[in-house]
Amino acid sequence: MYNHDKMLIKGGSPLMGETMVSGGKNTSVAVIPATILSDEPSTIENLPDIDDVHALIEILELLGAECEYVPDQYLTVRPKSINSHHVPFSLTRRLRASYYMLGALLGRGGKATVAYPGGCEIGSRPIDQHVKGLSALGATILERSGFVEAEAKKLGGADVFFDIVTVGGTINIMLAAATAEGTTIIYNAAKEPHIVDLANFLNSMGARIKGAGTDIIRITGRETLHGTTYTVIPDQIETGTLMIAAAATHGDVTIHGCIPTHMEALTAKLLEMGIQVSEGDDIIRVRAHDQHRAINIKTQVYPGFPTDLQQPITALLCMANGQSTVYETIFEQRFKHLDELRRMGAHIKLMDRIVLIEGVPTLYGAPVTITDLRAGAALVIAGLMARGTTEVYETAFIDRGYERLEDKLRALGADIHRETL
Ligand code: EPU
Repeated sequence: MYNHDKMLIKGGSPLMGETMVSGGKNTSVAVIPATILSDEPSTIENLPDIDDVHALIEILELLGAECEYVPDQYLTVRPKSINSHHVPFSLTRRLRASYYMLGALLGRGGKATVAYPGGCEIGSRPIDQHVKGLSALGATILERSGFVEAEAKKLGGADVFFDIVTVGGTINIMLAAATAEGTTIIYNAAKEPHIVDLANFLNSMGARIKGAGTDIIRITGRETLHGTTYTVIPDQIETGTLMIAAAATHGDVTIHGCIPTHMEALTAKLLEMGIQVSEGDDIIRVRAHDQHRAINIKTQVYPGFPTDLQQPITALLCMANGQSTVYETIFEQRFKHLDELRRMGAHIKLMDRIVLIEGVPTLYGAPVTITDLRAGAALVIAGLMARGTTEVYETAFIDRGYERLEDKLRALGADIHRETL
């Protein structure tokens, strides 16, 4: 964690050249807990070297697992020695995904006591759907004194109907159901790429999961799962952030190691703005020369426009020609970056969940503070676009989810560095 750092960005340099995307954050934070569903060791490759991954490894170690982690190479988890099911707030406060320990510990040994998760403050983020699903599988769940206590003599397959589409809920039920007796069917399941990646990971451990990537996922429980070696998919949101940064600086950037089909919602919007996007098998090239056109965006579940790119693209739209609107439908408070963008000269109004942006010719460097991970990406992008120097505080939020973002941007020509306060 770099709590005592600030980032200094001198804007105006177009990003040029080639870069490589890291492994997916939201897939890694699901796959790491999944390793404890077997007693055998599992090895995961392509994990991003980010704080969310570090925090999960600490959680597994605290529970008694042996972890061998070589950043940027592999993580091997040996879960056999796990002797606890208690995950304290000192660790869950560091990441939202710590709630996956509920499904994973229940699936492993029928018991989990997990402190309510922390993570980014972007809305109320309840877990009622997780609780409803785990209860349907036969777990007794008690929420008291800041902990969720879950217990089941034996988990059994069940039909789980989600009232809303929830990524975290879908993942937690998949984790718990993989070793439950009988068949679980999740209706109204999330379809994000990391849901499919988790299903592939669990299937490589011997699980029987079908339908991931559609609304209905069918999980036939297996009594035991075995260890595996698995490479996680590239980060969809990091790819998108780099695409937006390239466009924002009127640059020409080729991103390697990505999955272009995961990016279709963003690609369509960039094309609408007049930005050139071309694709190869695992390559995306973004080029922008002319002034960008204003557009309208509504965040939606996959394959719609991802909420995780709402804040970064809002920064880009601050200098587009005309009035843009951004409608955030997933998280009701994912707007804390707007005040900071205003400090830099952006003309923005917030009406309920709709952001109205009147494009300005110039943003100006200013001191700004990050409030959550994707707000961090938005402010870095704004800094790259701005005239003068932007000082970005609370950079630890960025380190939760982006692997060495400023190193990647510097290698593309950005004038960006950190200073210790
Ligand atoms: N919701 C409920 N009840 C629940 C669960 C969710 O009402 O039991 C609501 C939430 O409040 C929200 C909506 O349902 O309004 C969607 O929440 P979801 O459960 O899908 O989100 P999440 O699992 O908490 C994950 C990602 C987020 C990403 C969202 C949406 C991880 C660790 N987190 O969160 O990623 O924004 O899905 O795609 O996978 C990020 O990477 O910056 C990030 C916040």
